[in-house]
Amino acid sequence: MTTPVLKTTPVLEVENLQKLYYSSGGLFSGKRKPVKAVDGVSFSIARGEVLGLVGESGSGKSTVGRTLLRLHEPTAGTIRFDGEDITHASGQRMRDLRREMQIIFQDPFSSLNPRSRIMEIVGEAVDLRGALPKDEREASVIRLLEQVGLSRDHLHRFPHEFSGGQRQRLNIARALAVRPRFVVADEPVAALDVSIQAQVMNLLVDLQRDTGIALLFISHDLGLVEFIADKVMVMYLGRIVEMASARDLYSRPFHPYTRALLSTTPSVDPREARARKRTLLQGEPPSPANPPSGCTFRTRCPFAIAACAAERPAYRQVGEGHYHSCIRDDISGGEPLRAVA
Ligand SMILES: Nc1ncnc2c1ncn2[C@@H]1O[C@H](COP(=O)(O)OP(=O)(O)O)[C@@H](O)[C@H]1O
Ligand SMILES: [Mg+2]
Repeated sequence: MTTPVLKTTPVLEVENLQKLYYSSGGLFSGKRKPVKAVDGVSFSIARGEVLGLVGESGSGKSTVGRTLLRLHEPTAGTIRFDGEDITHASGQRMRDLRREMQIIFQDPFSSLNPRSRIMEIVGEAVDLRGALPKDEREASVIRLLEQVGLSRDHLHRFPHEFSGGQRQRLNIARALAVRPRFVVADEPVAALDVSIQAQVMNLLVDLQRDTGIALLFISHDLGLVEFIADKVMVMYLGRIVEMASARDLYSRPFHPYTRALLSTTPSVDPREARARKRTLLQGEPPSPANPPSGCTFRTRCPFAIAACAAERPAYRQVGEGHYHSCIRDDISGGEPLRAVA
């Protein structure tokens, strides 16, 4: 057993977050049409809690993750970190907060400076905590390397000498170096070989438990999310369609989108939880520049009725901390569409 962390005080609170991208819509298209990448998302993450964010590619997951750290500016809504409203905090304040909030990206290859040795890459992150004498700094880097399953032998190597899995371990070491309270992990294992994914997932789980860091774990793979998350949010076209404790979401999913995603997720075990051919989810999601009226999932939903087009569905509570946005109470009976072990 690990030490229990009090999972009550929120580290991060997000209210009605919205992010529109104004991309140029082609030479002759006239008015630019915004892409509603995130359209009214609210949630909180408690200390030591792992919140999973899952959905297909393009649903807005990365935009949520980056906006929280103000790597992208929110269009509307409020972001509170440790009680402080950081929605409009200055660049200097956000740089200070990099000691508290970190992000691990999907691509382990582009996120490490190819010209720096590991000692410098991780050392620079250690420096953010404050200057240390040379030997302490090196000892600190070695400790971090060992924490992520690497060693002092790697100190003077360059990133290109490492495999994808090792580079992601380095990214994790660098994120941990500042001793953050909150980390966003955006598809941290998606670019890795399946055999390596499980190792890195196990590392993340162990480190999260040991450090009590609050984690937003982003993935398109419900199997990976189940492996690590305490709570899960399911995102579709910029909105959260269902939110619940991991246990409830996987045993009593309500929203047809959640159920369709689950039907393609074979197992809890990340070694087996590879995406299988989609059986229930036909086609691609609509463009977030032109989302359907009402429930945005209705155009792909086997249970859609006329009323689904009328207005944006309100959240319904179906259990403690369990919400979904489907109006079809008659079909959304919480029946899993797969066997639950
Ligand atoms: N910098 C950007 N400029 C314009 N559109 C963007 C930008 N980043 C993301 N988008 C669009 O926003 C939507 C959500 O993207 P993203 O947050 O990357 O989703 P996910 O991480 O779930 O795949 C997509 O339609 C994507 O094309
Ligand atoms: Mg993404």
